Amino acid sequence: MFSFDIDASLPKAQVYADLLAAARALIEGERDGIANMANVAALLAQYLPDLNWAGFYRVVDGELVLGPFVGKPACIRIALGSGVCGAAAATGETQRVDDVHAFPGHIACDADSRSELVVPVITDGKVTHVIDLDSPSPARFDADDQAGIERLASLLSGRV
Ligand code: SME
Repeated sequence: MFSFDIDASLPKAQVYADLLAAARALIEGERDGIANMANVAALLAQYLPDLNWAGFYRVVDGELVLGPFVGKPACIRIALGSGVCGAAAATGETQRVDDVHAFPGHIACDADSRSELVVPVITDGKVTHVIDLDSPSPARFDADDQAGIERLASLLSGRV
């Protein structure tokens, strides 16, 4: 139904422009949050190299609960403030961690993970979800990745 051309040799800014265009095309007109998260998790895994986990946690009754993702089975519930995801949800601020072993309270769902980028999705001033990307490479994520995923989080506000 949907097919997207992915060229890994493109500059990172172009990769994110393409990823966002694909996400916009997939979620426009669809109000089901689970469907939208599932498709965006698939896009993240397709477009971004060197990831071992890509997906969502949702804020439910004051804790994070696992949402749609691509990767190995993961921790189901994470307390706000706990680990990298919990820090992003509690503060409303992106967490870009070059070395997860150096992050206090990091939760090792997948022992392969070395670096992590977690971006909150904010609707009406409240964190409703976080986007979580894990990589087996140290310092996999740079400022361009952070900017790209923050744009994606804005697009998803109110739609997941
Ligand atoms: N490492 C995360 C937990 C989620 S998994 O990586 C999928 C954390 O510390 O919050």
